[in-house]
Amino acid sequence: MKTTAKAHANIALVKYWGKRDPTLNLPAVGSISMTLRALTTTTAINFKDEFTRDRLILNGKHAGEKQARRVSKFLDLMREPAGVHTFAEITSENNFPTGAGLASSASGFAALAVAADRALNLNLSPTALSRYARMGSGSAARSIFGGFVEMHRGEKPDGSDAVAEPLFDANYWPLEMLILITSEAEKPIGSTEGMNLTAQTSPYYPAWVESSINDLAEMRDAITRRDFEKLGEIAEFSCFKMHGLAMSANPALIYWNELTVKLIAEVRRLRKQGTPAYVTIDAGPQVKVICPPGESDSLMTHFSKFEGIKQVLQSNIGGGARVK
Ligand code: DP6
Repeated sequence: MKTTAKAHANIALVKYWGKRDPTLNLPAVGSISMTLRALTTTTAINFKDEFTRDRLILNGKHAGEKQARRVSKFLDLMREPAGVHTFAEITSENNFPTGAGLASSASGFAALAVAADRALNLNLSPTALSRYARMGSGSAARSIFGGFVEMHRGEKPDGSDAVAEPLFDANYWPLEMLILITSEAEKPIGSTEGMNLTAQTSPYYPAWVESSINDLAEMRDAITRRDFEKLGEIAEFSCFKMHGLAMSANPALIYWNELTVKLIAEVRRLRKQGTPAYVTIDAGPQVKVICPPGESDSLMTHFSKFEGIKQVLQSNIGGGARVK
């Protein structure tokens, strides 16, 4: 029987970068994100006795060896407690442009965890699902939940406390976001590899880990008080610290292109003129613009005309992962 689940992408306002345990995929820092309604992964899973191995179909095409192995390894983690040894066919579709350099691992592993939980009759709690999703990809732990979500780094060596927790649901403060696509080329170094290189080589890494505690506290406070300016300031601080850190790795990790830099300047210029907008950027060149409820339409018009931009995606804040 086929089970289908849906999950949304999320964008971190306080970034996750670095692992305290790369084997168990435990983050070195906590993070806070907002879940994006418009960016969805839909994943169907079908376990069948006659299959001799797992098959992964991503956006209509057979996935490459590396991706297929990552998904199989993840499914093994969920097959084990279910006592199931059969293989599955997994079909996963993103509604956002593929090859746009947008991380689909967050919505991808969250949807897969929810679909596999139902198909294997595990009946896991959302917290347990978040723990599993984290083992697939750190940011996926947050996509189990909607609204504003905090991922805890946890302290326990087994990672049982490295889970996400919903802070406020999507209706609490319906912030909006634009995603400005500056390049559709694949990023040269993925997050996993990039953060491991940073942890091993950057002299600033300990300061990054230490200073994240205060960013998390300030972000929690900004969201609780619905203080947009404070939220934007902390989000930019965390983002630029993360990129500064990545640039201090050896060899340096530079995820931006020229347009990324131009767009950062443009958002700063608009802000000076009174437009409430702040940027955040992940491990790629796309610029995400955070804005208060009702502000993204006019910014969409503005950026759609900006020279060099490939595409603009618009989203408000969305709900958690669920069986379809
Ligand atoms: C820059 O969750 O993709 O988007 O756990 O190795 O799969 P793995 O990393 P991943 O890293 C996300 C990094 C980030 C910041 C964030 O989403 O917090």
